[in-house]
Amino acid sequence: MTTLIKGFVFDLDGVITDTARFHYQAWKKVAHDELGIDINPAVNEKLKGVSRMDSLNVILKFGGKENAYTDTEKREFATEKNDLYKSLIKQMTPADILPGISNFLQAITKAGYPMSLASASRNAPFIIERLELGEYFAAIVDPATLSKGKPDPEIFEKAADLIHSPYADTVGLEDAVAGIEGIQRAGMFAVGVGKPEVLGKADILFPDTAHLDLAKIEAAFAEKRK
Ligand code: G6P
Ligand code: MG
Repeated sequence: MTTLIKGFVFDLDGVITDTARFHYQAWKKVAHDELGIDINPAVNEKLKGVSRMDSLNVILKFGGKENAYTDTEKREFATEKNDLYKSLIKQMTPADILPGISNFLQAITKAGYPMSLASASRNAPFIIERLELGEYFAAIVDPATLSKGKPDPEIFEKAADLIHSPYADTVGLEDAVAGIEGIQRAGMFAVGVGKPEVLGKADILFPDTAHLDLAKIEAAFAEKRK
């Protein structure tokens, strides 16, 4: 099938692999031990796609302690969380790639579309290396170069720029509502992975990664272009 797609930009967490459980484990410990705040899965949902420092701020707000610490102390908590997180992701292997993703990346490569990574995580390059997926991604956005987080479109625009894909010809994949919004605000075609109650605004939605289907995406993209 001929389409006008020029490139794919991928979120990492929840699309390629499930690192949310490691972020949760690390934040849960730091929040409990250092801040005296017990977080729960509902709080964890709010941390998805959110930068490290903003995640800490979400937790502090949840615990009613948003003004309890200096910036230096906050940086220390964030570093402690990251050290813990790094010790957890160190054990990741290609077995941690979500179902269907390897085949999907192969299909995209075979079709000749370049791919880049639009993850807010500064640990993304390390994770891609652990998963042995480096060969598929022509570029990874460095979150340190960003001025705004998702749902701002900046990260998706940078990811598309890195593979020279015009925004209107770019497909973005996301599992978070802020990500879908960012992709669409960038003028890109949004592929959602998750529940319709959450990601109903996506241009095409798959219930999970195992169902991702390149031909269906190409067809939906062409249909929207009509
Ligand atoms: C992703 C995750 C967030 C995480 C952020 C920063 O967007 O979904 O939960 O806070 O990356 O990750 P980092 O590895 O830089 O702390
Ligand atoms: Mg995600």
